Amino acid sequence: IPVEQFDLVIFGATGDLARRKILPGLYRRWKEGQIPQGSAIIGAARSDLARADFRDMVRAALEEFLARKELVEDSIASFLEMLDYVKVDAKGDGGWEHLHGMMRKDIVRAFYLSVAPALFGGIAQRLHQRGIADRNSRIVVEKPFGKNLETALALNAALAEYFHEDQIYRIDHYLGKETVQNLMAVRFANILFEPLWNSQFVDHVQITVAETVGVDGRGEYYDSSGAMRDMVQNHLMQLVCLIAMEPPHCFEPDAMRDEKLKVIRALDPLKAGELVRGQYRGRGDEDYLVESGNPDSLTESFIAMKLHISNWRWKGTPFYLRTGKRLKSRVSEIAVTFKEPPHSIFGESNQWRENVLVIRLQPDEGMDLRVMIKEPGPGGMRLKDVALDMSFAEALGNDLDIPDAYERLIMDVIRGNQTLFMRGDEVEAAWAWVDPVIDGWEAREDQPEPYEPGSTGPEGALMLMHKDGRRWREIR
Ligand code: BG6
Repeated sequence: IPVEQFDLVIFGATGDLARRKILPGLYRRWKEGQIPQGSAIIGAARSDLARADFRDMVRAALEEFLARKELVEDSIASFLEMLDYVKVDAKGDGGWEHLHGMMRKDIVRAFYLSVAPALFGGIAQRLHQRGIADRNSRIVVEKPFGKNLETALALNAALAEYFHEDQIYRIDHYLGKETVQNLMAVRFANILFEPLWNSQFVDHVQITVAETVGVDGRGEYYDSSGAMRDMVQNHLMQLVCLIAMEPPHCFEPDAMRDEKLKVIRALDPLKAGELVRGQYRGRGDEDYLVESGNPDSLTESFIAMKLHISNWRWKGTPFYLRTGKRLKSRVSEIAVTFKEPPHSIFGESNQWRENVLVIRLQPDEGMDLRVMIKEPGPGGMRLKDVALDMSFAEALGNDLDIPDAYERLIMDVIRGNQTLFMRGDEVEAAWAWVDPVIDGWEAREDQPEPYEPGSTGPEGALMLMHKDGRRWREIR
């Protein structure tokens, strides 16, 4: 769907996210001809930069964060032409009049707040009170959307004072990933899976988001968050919602978000013994305590848990989640494991294996369905499980260029489509579920279990599955 001409203002335009994701994403869309001529991208930040300095900074960011084959000089030059810069004091008066003067009439205005959440309210207020934003403008905010329910409520209230909910775009970049959107296509565009998609036929679901990176330069932020706030409250929760939700009646923002919200509200509180927290402990920088800069830290860099969803569809089917840093490899996948057929006609000697539908989110995006077949040969009816394996790159062309999550989401902001953004009540419900768990371990001063960097996480996580007679899929 083509987008209209727009003015996009990026607050925090010299920051890490803007350089790494937002500006390279916009460049790629420009290169693909998806940004209409005459649109403007305005960087806004504290630094005293001339327009030319900002353009130089953006050029350097494109060179640093994009593959060489993407750097096409003509496209870069014309992209940079679209960029302007304004020095703005987010907490004071400086720069706002200038910014106001740059806004053009009768075109879409979007304001991307790539800044600390503490600045959201003040920027929203100035945009509104100075007439820079109008009823048709959109405001985009990034995580962390609060630290707990209380702070999330305050952020929502601060934004709601100046913007309507249909103008607020809360980014969870996992929803912008092609393969995450594909979950909805798999479930709701096929008849094959949905009839089996319930506790009568699904034994359990496992979701793994394993990373090899550590906390790198983000120690301070990460140490006050941990895996629960950084990954589970948002990204993993969204994955659980997409897997567990009822079919919405259409692919429209509120229809989708109503169904996701019902899943979060149906989550049981976590039970003692169904949660494992880990922390990587290695040598030198590969030690969480060194890397985070906090030698006494009790923050988890790994978490595994067993969730129960109390509704008609899922009662009795556990969802196991795990995510962590400095693990063996970078793998994000969802595996839906089906139950045993009610009766085997092939006899005891045939080793039965579960049917499993694996949706690989990254890398090697694709799907894999484990099915039982007859082992070829004259030796009788011997069964074997094999993979119906499909990689999107192979199925759709090896040069498939999967757009980055941010590219998709920014274009959706301009189109005015909120389907892949979180509504305020969803974020609040997720915090309401997470808060008591965190409060519990903070009150007990719970010690995370150490694990080796490069491993698959702490022993306790394995036990979480073993004691139920199940096992995690291997992280290769
Ligand atoms: C971010 C977290 O939201 O997601 C990071 O703050 C994490 O800690 C990142 O590394 C993972 O995103 P992706 O797209 O690399 O899976």
